[in-house]
Amino acid sequence: MQWHTLLALALACTPPSVALLRFQCSQLVTQRLDPLVEPGLIPSPHVHQIVGGNSFNATMAPSKDMPASSTCTTCSFSQDFSNYWTAVLYFRARNGTYKRVPQMSQISGATGGITVYYMSDALYDTAQKSKVTAFKPGFRMFVGDINARTKAAVSRFRQLTYTCMSDASTRAPESLAFPNKTCAYGIMANVRFPTCWDGVNLDSPDHMAHMAYPENGTFESQGPCPSTHPVRTPQVLFEVVWDTKSFNNKADWPTDGTQPFVWANGDATGYGNHADYVFGWQGTALQDLMNTPCVVNCPAANPKTQSTAAMNKCIQNAIVGEDINGWFKTLPGGYTAQYS
Ligand SMILES: *[C@@H]1O[C@H](CO)[C@@H](O)[C@H](O)[C@H]1NC(C)=O
Ligand SMILES: *[C@@H]1O[C@H](CO)[C@@H](O)[C@H](O)[C@H]1NC(C)=O
Ligand SMILES: *[C@@H]1O[C@H](CO)[C@@H](O)[C@H](O)[C@H]1NC(C)=O
Ligand SMILES: *[C@@H]1O[C@H](CO)[C@@H](O)[C@H](O)[C@H]1NC(C)=O
Repeated sequence: MQWHTLLALALACTPPSVALLRFQCSQLVTQRLDPLVEPGLIPSPHVHQIVGGNSFNATMAPSKDMPASSTCTTCSFSQDFSNYWTAVLYFRARNGTYKRVPQMSQISGATGGITVYYMSDALYDTAQKSKVTAFKPGFRMFVGDINARTKAAVSRFRQLTYTCMSDASTRAPESLAFPNKTCAYGIMANVRFPTCWDGVNLDSPDHMAHMAYPENGTFESQGPCPSTHPVRTPQVLFEVVWDTKSFNNKADWPTDGTQPFVWANGDATGYGNHADYVFGWQGTALQDLMNTPCVVNCPAANPKTQSTAAMNKCIQNAIVGEDINGWFKTLPGGYTAQYS
C-alpha cells in the first residue's frame, strides 16, 4: 500500500492519546566529521550529512548545552537542537569514478536533509497510546555496523532498510541490501534506532550497549523491553531520500550486473547502513510533545515551529576544507567500493 492510502486510513481511525512526531530537518552541513564515534578527529574517516542545531562540531562533550550553544536549527521544531547524521551515498560509474548522490527533502522548498520521526507506537497506529520516556541531555546513540557486508551482520539491527521508490509515496517493500534495479524516484534509507534504554547511561563505549531492542518482535509489534534495558523510549526513525534519478542510465552501471551505489565508507552492499543521534532538545520540550496527542502533522499543531525558509537559512560552513562533490577515483578518505 502507498503512504497516502495508509495515512488516510490511519487518520480515519481512533484519535491519538500521545504523539507521533514527523518533521523535516534541512541540511546543516556535509563533511568528514563524527563527534560521536571519532571525537576531535578532523577529518573523520568518511563523509557525513548532518542536520539539526548549529552547535555541531568536531568535539561535542556530553556536558555541552546544545540549545544554549546553538543560534539556530535546521529542524522545523525550533526547540530541537539535536544533531542527526548518516553517511552520504556515492554513485560508481562504469568507468570506475564516483560522484555524490544528492538528497531530496520530503517537503517542498527544504534543502536536502532528512525526515525525523519520534513514535510512541507503530507508524500507522493512529491510536498512539503508549507512554514513552524522552531522552535526557547528554544522551547519544549509534546504530549499525559500518563493516557489515552480509545480511546476517545487518539483521542484528533488525530494521535498517531501503525502499526503492517509484514515486514520492512508495514505502514498501523494504530491503536490507541496496536495491538492484533502478528506482524511478529515488532510494529511501530507513534507520530505526533501538527503543529500550538501560535507564542509567547516556552513552556507552560502542554508543550502542546502553540501548537494546525489545525482547522479541519490534517496537512496532510491541515486544517488551528486556529487564536489562527496561525504559521504553520513543522510536527514532530517519528517512533519508537519495535522489538517484540522474544515475538511472543503465549504460553507466557496472557491466557485471551489480548495482552502482556505495556508502561513503566504501560499502557497496548496503548492509553497512548506520546513523548517529545526539540529543539536544530544549528542556522538557521533547517529553512534553510526546505527551501531547498529535499524529504526523504535529509541526502545524505546535507553535514552537519555524518556517522552511528559516530552516534552510541555518547552515554551517564545513570546517574540513575538501571537495566532496567532484568525480573521484577514490572516495574522500581513500575508500573504494567493497562487497565483502
Ligand atoms: C567548534 O569548536 C572550535 C574549537 O573549540 C571553536 O573554535 C568553534 O567556534 C566551534 N564551532 C562552532 C560552530 O561551535
Ligand atoms: C566517468 O563516467 C561518468 C558518467 O558517464 C562521466 O560523467 C565522467 O566524466 C567519466 N569520467 C572519466 C574520467 O572518464
Ligand atoms: C542484490 O544482489 C545481491 C547480489 O546478488 C544480493 O546479495 C542482494 O540481496 C540483492 N539485493 C536485493 C535488495 O535483493
Ligand atoms: C513476546 O514476549 C511476550 C512476553 O514474553 C509475549 O507475551 C508475546 O506474545 C511475545 N511476542 C511475540 C511477537 O513473540
